[in-house]
Amino acid sequence: MKIHEIETPSYVIDEKKLRENLEILHSVEERTGAKILLAQKCFSGFYEYPLISKYISGTTASGLYEARLGWEEMGKENHVFSPAYREKDMEEIAEICDHVIFNSKSQLKKYLPVLQAANTRAEAEGYNLFPENAWSDAEVWGNPEMRSDTEVAEKGPLQTDTEVAEKGPLQMNTEVNPGDKVRKRPHKVSAGIRINPECSTQGNHAIYDPCAPGSRMGVRACDFDGEILSMIEGIHFHTLCEQNADDLETTLQAVEEKFGPYLHQVKWLNMGGGHHITREDYDVEKLCALITHMKETYNLEIYLEPGEAVALNAGYLVTTVLDIVENDIKTLILDASAACHMPDVLEMPYQPPLMDARKVDEFLEDMKARIKKLVSTEDSSSDEAEDDTDSEIKYYRYRLSSNTCLAGDVIGDYVFDHEVKVGDRLYFRDMAIYSMVKNNTFNGIPLPSIAAMDENGDVRIVKEFGYEDFKGRLS
Ligand SMILES: Cc1ncc(COP(=O)(O)O)c(C=O)c1O
Repeated sequence: MKIHEIETPSYVIDEKKLRENLEILHSVEERTGAKILLAQKCFSGFYEYPLISKYISGTTASGLYEARLGWEEMGKENHVFSPAYREKDMEEIAEICDHVIFNSKSQLKKYLPVLQAANTRAEAEGYNLFPENAWSDAEVWGNPEMRSDTEVAEKGPLQTDTEVAEKGPLQMNTEVNPGDKVRKRPHKVSAGIRINPECSTQGNHAIYDPCAPGSRMGVRACDFDGEILSMIEGIHFHTLCEQNADDLETTLQAVEEKFGPYLHQVKWLNMGGGHHITREDYDVEKLCALITHMKETYNLEIYLEPGEAVALNAGYLVTTVLDIVENDIKTLILDASAACHMPDVLEMPYQPPLMDARKVDEFLEDMKARIKKLVSTEDSSSDEAEDDTDSEIKYYRYRLSSNTCLAGDVIGDYVFDHEVKVGDRLYFRDMAIYSMVKNNTFNGIPLPSIAAMDENGDVRIVKEFGYEDFKGRLS
């Protein structure tokens, strides 16, 4: 099936673009030795985890459920950060996560014993949980001295030194497919603390600025002390949102200035997400230099946990025009909704790009440029080559909205170069990120199907949803 044949509404993941993004991220890992983790809060399309796991080091989570997803479906390094954990979740988190990052000294103190107990247990048992098919000679992961499953049953989990010398260390296959069972692996959980470097680089967007005054995110330098240091192995910060490496540089200067002495005394530094590494204008060179600087100055293992950069521009939301309502402006009623299927449009807010149409602002900019060009051509006496500035411009402006009851469920105003008709299909771009993970069935609006498009443009449906999915989360 091709994308124009799919039933709407549907999210379609673009595997070609996903792979291109992953290649860039992988190159950062290769060049710097840093480890990159998928922030599942942004993209949890676990159907693609086998692909993603070939390029980056693992997953990060916002709590138990995402942590379980990463552990079950990716099975590589699995980290978690939450502003506060629930008591009943902590044991399981300690079992399945490699790094647990706390937001406050009180949470760290409360749960450190749970992590320590998990480590003592793991040491006693010698192994812990890991996807069942994890052994092959494809890639090394984790403790290279582990035995295979049958050997574990026969002889215990670890190879002896002589076995390692004779046969070489066992290798691990990181490709974990949906539905794979889990097996055990050596596991040590490492505790970290989130810091707040009090360095805002995001202008006026306080809603997504964890360094805004009064922020609940992270421990400030004035509250950091030796007791915290004695309980942790690593430090985490997350301050960026869709930003370039220059803002990371500014942030790192603040981190070094305020937390430099502590950095010398921990093992790892996690620089959070918000790095728009796969955007065209992103300064990858600078990122690599910054990572290397931190790694070498403080002898640290460096982690990055981007979400957007993994699946940036790697998805579409395909929708159909159900009706057109005229009330001074022509509004297209779609079978997709901002409120239900792309809540960030209303929350951030932002206007998603649309294939074969321009946002009104972009259209106006383009018009201004054309007029400027036209005027300058008329002013000059030279015989300039003909261009399109004086060709007739056709444009059709529409407001794109949905079939929910919310008057403000408006995606934005767009300009097309052709008239749109009922039954036409529209393709929103950049719809893999913060879309599927945030959608809902407000008004009983169906959830879009999830599909994947391969490098040849062939589309296969991965998951469809129906009435039972709506009913199933209510009672
Ligand atoms: C702690 C943390 N890590 C990683 C991310 C991922 O950020 P992004 O998707 O912007 O790269 C976020 C996003 O809010 C976050 O809060």
